[in-house]
Amino acid sequence: MRVTRRYSFSASHRLDSPRLDAETNRRLYGKCNNPFGHGHNYVLDVSAQGAVDPRTGRVLDPRALDRLVRQQVLDPFDRRDLNTECAAFGAVVPTSENLGTEIMRRLKANWSDAFPGGGPELERICIAETERNIFQVSADETA
Ligand code: NI
Repeated sequence: MRVTRRYSFSASHRLDSPRLDAETNRRLYGKCNNPFGHGHNYVLDVSAQGAVDPRTGRVLDPRALDRLVRQQVLDPFDRRDLNTECAAFGAVVPTSENLGTEIMRRLKANWSDAFPGGGPELERICIAETERNIFQVSADETA
């Protein structure tokens, strides 16, 4: 069975690639390249799959997932400027593609500590930057 739990956080960013010159950045990213950045209210869905534990009737302990997401996503990213406050985006453009990849990397790296002794497997995350921009990252497509 698949279980999805939803979180939300707010962060600001500016899309400006160090691999592109200023004019190309302006042309490519438009308003998203404005020097002082802009914010988004991100919605993050974390999906896990596993068997229903016959003792608890549940696939996972939502409090364990909440702790993991708080430590690995909300504490580092909520109310932050992704470009200047988050080391992962020092040289990486904080698009939602890259933000989703970083979130998946963090959840995968700490999943077994959050759920010791097996149990649910992280399957994918879905991050919505706006109502129209939605990104899915599968656990098996990232390192
Ligand atoms: Ni944006």
